[in-house]
Amino acid sequence: MKTPDIIDPDQPNFASTRRGWLKTVGLGGMSAGALALAGGCATSATTETAAAAAMPTDHLPDLTAPTDGLVRLSSNENPFGPSPKAVEAMSKYLEYTARYADKETAILAEQIAEIEGVSADQVVISNGSSPILMVYGYWIATNGGKLITSMATYEGVPRSAEYYGAEVDYVPLTADYDFDLDAIAAKVTPETTAVYICNPNNPVGRVVDADKLYAFAKEVSKTTQVFIDEAYIELSDAYPANKQTRLIQEGSNVVVCRTFSKIHGMAGQRLGYAILPKDAAASLGAAVRLGGVNHLGQIAGMASLKDTENLEKQRLQIARERLKTVAAIEELGLTYAKNPQGNFVYVDTGMPFKEFADKMAANGVRVAGRAWPGYESWSRISVGLPSDTDACVKALKAVYA
Ligand SMILES: Cc1ncc(COP(=O)(O)O)c(C=O)c1O
Repeated sequence: MKTPDIIDPDQPNFASTRRGWLKTVGLGGMSAGALALAGGCATSATTETAAAAAMPTDHLPDLTAPTDGLVRLSSNENPFGPSPKAVEAMSKYLEYTARYADKETAILAEQIAEIEGVSADQVVISNGSSPILMVYGYWIATNGGKLITSMATYEGVPRSAEYYGAEVDYVPLTADYDFDLDAIAAKVTPETTAVYICNPNNPVGRVVDADKLYAFAKEVSKTTQVFIDEAYIELSDAYPANKQTRLIQEGSNVVVCRTFSKIHGMAGQRLGYAILPKDAAASLGAAVRLGGVNHLGQIAGMASLKDTENLEKQRLQIARERLKTVAAIEELGLTYAKNPQGNFVYVDTGMPFKEFADKMAANGVRVAGRAWPGYESWSRISVGLPSDTDACVKALKAVYA
């Protein structure tokens, strides 16, 4: 692996310009509560990190074990972990964490731009994709305040938009639990600020047919901006044919958002990015990059993107565990959203989701601890290591014995 030249002792200290940026993007007047929400995108991770920091270092090895002793299939993480090349790269640059990592951001943006066939000024890099979703919600609320999406879907953008005062129209999924693109398109008006599509859709796992989504976004983006959250796209069987960056290359008013938390196995390193039209990238970038992006995360991201062999291995091993989980669910005769394409399965448990979660926990497995409106008996079960799948199958059998 070629190591990029990234250490620049003359990097500016971004802290001095932060206030000006806040003003530029209209965040200067944000209340303490609003800023808390911005930080709150990573609440559980932050709590666990704070607990870790309070520990004496001789307890650090305990951090490799789940804190509550349960197999953690609740947060769609990828416990297969980062590429060995990403780990090696992080080790190499550990001692350079004293510097703000702006040059690294520029190099990573170039690398992503080359892979995606766009220019580097169309790439916005962030500490995980959550800050992008949060700022995007704020942007919706302050630019007409009308979002259309579906229920159930990932809450990042709709919740942030609602928090800042936008109206969100949740269009029901189809009978196959897909985004109802025709129904969404029929609702779009010149007053619509944005449409949010999650593909594959969290918590459902279904992927939208690539040609259908392309045609939808091409047409709808003539009237409003289309935001496609591709957090899990690299895990889908049809990757890369079903990624939608082509729309941005062609100049459509579309945003594609990705993360290193899923296939790259780096949720704790906090790294994500958006690809979008140049003007939108300039204003979104100014908002999400305040203070800069995590140095080691970016170093790891550069190495992980180059390790395409590892990415293919990740896709296959996650698909294998997903299929085993689906087989167990089918054997139990439960209804579920067919052909899931992320690292999770969405299943109708036949009981209130909390009762199911408690029963799974009593059998050693933690599943998603929340329900989406209209899906109160459904639960999202992440897939993990082969031993996690074994534990999950055993727990499912015990719950339905
Ligand atoms: C669809 C989707 N988008 C975005 C995110 C945010 O991920 P992160 O902030 O770790 O990049 C998640 C997290 O699970 C997700 O499921």
